[in-house]
Amino acid sequence: MTSILTSLFVSFFILFSVQAEEPIYLTIGEDAYAKMSTIFGERLVAHEKSLDTVLVSIDEAAIPWLSMQMHKEFKRCGGFFWHEDENEAYATLENLESILQSQKALYVEYEINKQSQVIESMALIEGTQISSTIEELSAFHNRYYTSASGAEATEFIAQKWRNLVAHRSDASVELFRHGGWPQASVILTIQGVSDEIIIVGGHADSTAGFMGQARSRAPGADDNASGIATMTEVIRVLMGQNYRPQKTLKFMAYAAEEVGLRGSQEIAQLYQREGRQVIGVLQLDMTNFPGPSFDIVLISDFTNAEQNAFIGSLVDQYLPELSWGYDRCGYACSDHASWTRSGFPASIPFEATNRERNPHIHTARDTLDRLSADSSHAAKFARLAVAYVIEMD
Ligand code: BES
Ligand code: ZN
Repeated sequence: MTSILTSLFVSFFILFSVQAEEPIYLTIGEDAYAKMSTIFGERLVAHEKSLDTVLVSIDEAAIPWLSMQMHKEFKRCGGFFWHEDENEAYATLENLESILQSQKALYVEYEINKQSQVIESMALIEGTQISSTIEELSAFHNRYYTSASGAEATEFIAQKWRNLVAHRSDASVELFRHGGWPQASVILTIQGVSDEIIIVGGHADSTAGFMGQARSRAPGADDNASGIATMTEVIRVLMGQNYRPQKTLKFMAYAAEEVGLRGSQEIAQLYQREGRQVIGVLQLDMTNFPGPSFDIVLISDFTNAEQNAFIGSLVDQYLPELSWGYDRCGYACSDHASWTRSGFPASIPFEATNRERNPHIHTARDTLDRLSADSSHAAKFARLAVAYVIEMD
C-alpha cells in the first residue's frame, strides 16, 4: 500500500513539477531509455540514437528523479552522462559511435590463405637484429618528446628506415612534424595498388622519473625501443623478400606517447578528418620482457574484438607452439587507443599480462640486459606482425 502511494506521489511529482527553461542533455543506454520514457513520458525527449546509446534531453528539475529511478531500476549510480550543452552532446555521441564501432565492428573479412609467403618470411626474422636496434635506441640519453636527443632519436629511426627501403621507388619515409614540440613522428609508406591502409605502429619516445624528464636518463629499452626494433625487423624482412603489397602499408614511430598519446592522436585525428581507409592497426609497445602466463597477451579494451580474434587465430595457425590470452589495461594505455578513438580497428599484442609486465619501465633500469636474451621474445611479435601484414594485405 505504502509503495503504491509512494509511486503515485513520485509519478505526480515527475509529471507536474515546474519545468526548467534550458533542457539538460544526457546520453543514456537504450534499455534505460525504454524504461525511463514510460516513467517520464514527454518530459524525456529522445534526439538521436547511436548503437545502444540514446541522446536525450530533459528539464533540470527531473534530474534527481531520473537519477533515483535509474538506481532503482538498473542499480546504476547515475547511469547517464551529463553534457555541457547540445553541441557537446552531439559531438560526444558522434565520437561514441566511432569508438564503439571501432571496438565491435567487422571491418574486413579476415582470412588466412597466404601460408607459403607467411612461413617463408617469418623464418627470416632474427632476434639479434632486434637486439642491435634496441641497443642503438637506448643509447640516446633519453627520447623524451621535448629534448634534443628525443628529436635526434626519431631522425635516427627515419634514417634507418630510409636505408631499408632505399632501393624501392614505391616506398618513402616522412617526418611527421607536430606543432607543439620538437620530436617528429616517423611514417614509412609502402604504396600499394589500393588506397586501403594497414598500419603497424609503436611509440618512439621514452621517459623516466616524475620531474625533469627532459634531462633524465631514460633508455626505454622495453618501453618502447623493443616495439620500434620489432617493427624495424619486419620492415627488413619484407624488403629483403622484395615484398610488393596490394594494399598500402604504413609503419609509424610515434612521438610523445608518454605524455598522453599526443603524437598518435594527431595522426589518427588527421586520418579520420581526411577520410583515410585504415582497415587495421597493429600496435607494438613492449615486446621483449616475457611473462610466465602467456607468450602473447592481447589487450581487450580500447581495441577491436574481431581483429583481436583474428590475431589470436594467426598465432594458432602460424605460431602453434606459443600460448596466448587476453588481459585488460583498464585505460587508454598506448597509441592503439588513439586509433580506436578515431574510429579505426586497432589491436595490441603485449609482452605479458599487465601484472607480469616489465617492472622497470619509466626508470633508468629499463635496459636491454633485463630483457629476453637475443630478443627471442620480441622475435615472436615480429613473426606475428609479418603474418598480420601479409594476411591483411
Ligand atoms: N608501454 C606503456 C604502457 C603499456 C601498458 C602499454 C600495458 C601496453 C600495455 C606506455 O608507454 C605507457 O607508459 N602508458 C602510460 C599511459 C599513457 C597515456 C601516458 C601508462 O601506462 O601509464
Ligand atoms: Zn611508457
